[in-house]
Amino acid sequence: MENLKLAIIYYSATGTNHQLAKEAESAAQKLGVKEIRLRRIEETVPEEVMKENEGWYNHYQQTKSIATASVDDLDWADAIVFSAPTRYGNLPSQFKSLLDATGGLWQKGKLVNKVVSGMTSAGNPHGGQETTLLSLYKTMMHWGAIIAAPGYCDPVLFETGGNPYGFSMVGGEALNDKQKKAIEVQVNRTLSLAAKLS
Ligand SMILES: Cc1cc2nc3c(=O)[nH]c(=O)nc-3n(C[C@H](O)[C@H](O)[C@H](O)COP(=O)(O)O)c2cc1C
Repeated sequence: MENLKLAIIYYSATGTNHQLAKEAESAAQKLGVKEIRLRRIEETVPEEVMKENEGWYNHYQQTKSIATASVDDLDWADAIVFSAPTRYGNLPSQFKSLLDATGGLWQKGKLVNKVVSGMTSAGNPHGGQETTLLSLYKTMMHWGAIIAAPGYCDPVLFETGGNPYGFSMVGGEALNDKQKKAIEVQVNRTLSLAAKLS
């Protein structure tokens, strides 16, 4: 597991999914993974529009120095953990732009057998977390990727919302210890499956 290459690719407007991505990074570091790329998906909305939402604009300013995700990161990785907020039960267009740039990799079969897993947030407890992850996983199936959904593989998953598709939460809240543990379980499962395949 230590020698696997892990990409953590996220989009976040107001910080929740950035928090999830950072937690996934800490979990992977604890598991001894040496090569980790934490990458922010490029913002496509003009700054004037972002300024209408102070939380969005501030988070952008605070995190814009984080390296942005490219298709090369997807090609490079053995395992990929994604994190994205819901947009009407779907993926954000920013996130979809990256997925839609993978046609070349897909054509060469380079995304086959990547082990992938998704995390998400929504403004409401039932605001579209599951459908957002299912939207992501549809693309993963077209890639021929191996989806490492957590299911109910650890008791903590029953105490953190019980979403078998991937870790999810209500946006804007800080992670508690059980939620951090659930992310660790999901990262561990993703890496363990990748280790078995490698
Ligand atoms: C255009 C738009 C659509 C959204 N759609 C939903 C929705 O359908 N259901 C919901 O509960 N929250 C919805 N939200 C709220 C976001 O999902 C929430 O702010 C996000 O999970 C916070 O994550 P972030 O801090 O990483 O950006 C929407 C937000 C925006 C801007």
